[in-house]
Amino acid sequence: MWAAEVGDDVMGDDPTVNALQEKAARLFGMEDALFCPSGTMTNQLAIRVHTQPGSDVICDKYSHIYLYEGGGIMLNSFASVKLLDGDRGRLTAAQVADAISPENDIHSTITRLVSLENTMNKGGGSYYNINEIKSIKQVCMDKKIPLHLDGARLFNALVETGESPFQYGQLFDSISICLSKGLGCPVGSLLIGSTKTITNARRFRKVMGGGWRQAGFLAAAGIYALDHHVERLKEDHTRARAIGDIFSKKSEVEEIFPVDTNIVIIRLQESISETEYVKKLEKSGIRAVTFGKNLVRFVTHLDFTDDHLEEMRRKLEV
Ligand SMILES: Cc1ncc(COP(=O)(O)O)c(C=O)c1O
Repeated sequence: MWAAEVGDDVMGDDPTVNALQEKAARLFGMEDALFCPSGTMTNQLAIRVHTQPGSDVICDKYSHIYLYEGGGIMLNSFASVKLLDGDRGRLTAAQVADAISPENDIHSTITRLVSLENTMNKGGGSYYNINEIKSIKQVCMDKKIPLHLDGARLFNALVETGESPFQYGQLFDSISICLSKGLGCPVGSLLIGSTKTITNARRFRKVMGGGWRQAGFLAAAGIYALDHHVERLKEDHTRARAIGDIFSKKSEVEEIFPVDTNIVIIRLQESISETEYVKKLEKSGIRAVTFGKNLVRFVTHLDFTDDHLEEMRRKLEV
């Protein structure tokens, strides 16, 4: 990172940022990409670009863009939502088709975007079968509605399915990926899409105060992560499954969500407060977050090693 050649990215002059953006666009077979400080910003830029005030975004009721981005769909884009009840966050083409507003109906919002999340955070790292995404894409194409992917953890899905970023690039009009999270960068996300989408997003990034100067120091980490930290995500999944096994033996745990990738969600017995449980874990050096009533979420990542896993096992198997 220190060795990165940098320039002024607001002027489009940072060679390392440009190299990262070109690399990501090439990887997904899309025209352009935009480096941003966060996944929230890349999602919100996509929504801003694709929608108009008074239109709606179709997404799962647990999607990050709706639940955890501070009401940005409304605040940034003046758009509404159609919330669907997916299978651990995964929508079907039939659900999407049913939710699209009828044409020329002045009572309805106008559907301007369908947004999927893969892997699905709130679904416990669940991931899509690509055939379902293809069917959703067909529905969107028939109705001329763009399809966005919140792919904050897309690479976690890809290492499980063996699919390529290129296949995903063919299916979506815009894709957000996070270089932080599992890929291990200190900060940064990318929005990937057509030249037109990214040109518009660059303008709104500036409006939001997200134009940054010598961001090449951070982009250098992104380039490294894409080259070195993707395949190893499988190790995170193995460790997450091991954490699931540890909790399966704990009497206070009522249920463990299927561990598909790097997220483990446990449901505690009704009488146990998730907040107190997380505090207790924290005292013993295990960090997790509350994730709804009786729910606690653990995430494995680059900095969580086999030694940490063994330490966790020792602390919990007493
Ligand atoms: C699925 C998903 N999308 C988007 C984001 C937003 O990323 P950031 O925290 O970089 O804004 C997150 C963060 O946890 C996430 O889990």
